[in-house]
Amino acid sequence: MASKMTTVCEYKPGLEGIPAAQSSISYVDGQRGILEYRGIGIEELAQKSTFLETAYLLIWGELPTNEELEAFKKEILYHRRIKYRIKDMMKCFPETGHPMDALQASAAALGLFYSKRALDDPDYIRRAVVRILAKIPTMVAAFKQMRKGNEPVQPCDHLDYAANFLYMLNEQEPDPIAARLFDVCLMLHAEHTINASTFSAMVTASTLTDPYAVVASAVGTLAGPLHGGANEEVLSMLEEIGSVDNVYPYVEECLQHKRKIMGFGHRVYKVKDPRAKILQSLAEQLFEQPGCDKYYDIAVEFEKAVEEKLGYKGIYANVDFYSGLVYCKLGIPRDLFTPVFAIARVAGWLAHWKEQLEENRIYRPTQIYTGSHGVSYKTMAERDSYPC
Ligand code: CMC
Repeated sequence: MASKMTTVCEYKPGLEGIPAAQSSISYVDGQRGILEYRGIGIEELAQKSTFLETAYLLIWGELPTNEELEAFKKEILYHRRIKYRIKDMMKCFPETGHPMDALQASAAALGLFYSKRALDDPDYIRRAVVRILAKIPTMVAAFKQMRKGNEPVQPCDHLDYAANFLYMLNEQEPDPIAARLFDVCLMLHAEHTINASTFSAMVTASTLTDPYAVVASAVGTLAGPLHGGANEEVLSMLEEIGSVDNVYPYVEECLQHKRKIMGFGHRVYKVKDPRAKILQSLAEQLFEQPGCDKYYDIAVEFEKAVEEKLGYKGIYANVDFYSGLVYCKLGIPRDLFTPVFAIARVAGWLAHWKEQLEENRIYRPTQIYTGSHGVSYKTMAERDSYPC
């Protein structure tokens, strides 16, 4: 009987270029700087859609009818509040802890309250999607209030998704233009093919665990500085640069010491990230004229300098470069930038979760073993007798 041949594959660090799934959710062309959600260009969505409509599109594959969208918004509105026991749990978190850790723990805790799992039931899927989309912003805003010893601000029923989040954060109704800009930011961050956090969500989902564990594992992955955490670091970097005059010396120093420049470079994009272009124009609107905010001016000069020095390697501004500046101007504290990214990206994680459930197979890649074989066990006495 012929035995099954094992194909020996070339090892690719970081799985670069290895397809790990088939998906119709989003598309990236890294050479031409194109990003589409379900075939629609990100620029058009940013102009014409809203975050909740875009989330619906990503998760269910089609733009909703008016009736479908209104029903979806109503369900989200109904589920925005979080259980008092989750709030009590969050009150016990150390106030110095990072909000991404608080979010990861809170997202996982949802699974304790909604533990009945029915992954083959479309109603269960819809309820889980609604609950997660509705509650994640409330949890992010609640931790922001509670770490200062305040009670969380209750969601406000007459405000839409983006405006309500800003309201819960600052206890003040946001200006409609600010709320719209924030909604656009959420759309831009909602999905981006099989990036690290989405892959993490997919690996977790492939075991058929509950969606709260899926989201919690993705939140943990998004937190790192090479992924979502970069937006926080960009602002610290602009502060460290301190003035437009210091931009070129700072870039030179980074290159000399082979330091990664936060907010630049991408595994897929070899041109400027299309989301960075839209975010830059949002930042321009917010900062209006050059000179009104020194960090914006430093950022523009910095982008020019990095392009000059690293453009030949295909290293350009990514989504995280301008997002921090926009969030800062919207009154969002720096350590909440990545949780805000998570609020948006939940839509993409859930879309991949739902898509994968339709034809699930547990992820179980292989490895190339580089260790020894047949090593004999040494007793403690034998190990202790080794020379120091
Ligand atoms: N600054 C300086 N050099 C860079 C940068 C950068 N930001 N990014 C890549 N390079 C260089 C790198 O040193 C390497 O050079 P060489 O070939 O001479 O050794 C080459 O470009 C390839 O870099 P890599 O790290 O192997 O590329 P990667 O595809 O594994 O990493 C990345 C992609 C996004 C992790 C990386 O570009 C990076 O660390 N950027 C800074 C962090 C950042 O902004 N992350 C946000 C990414 S976009 C949003 C998201 O995913 O959340």
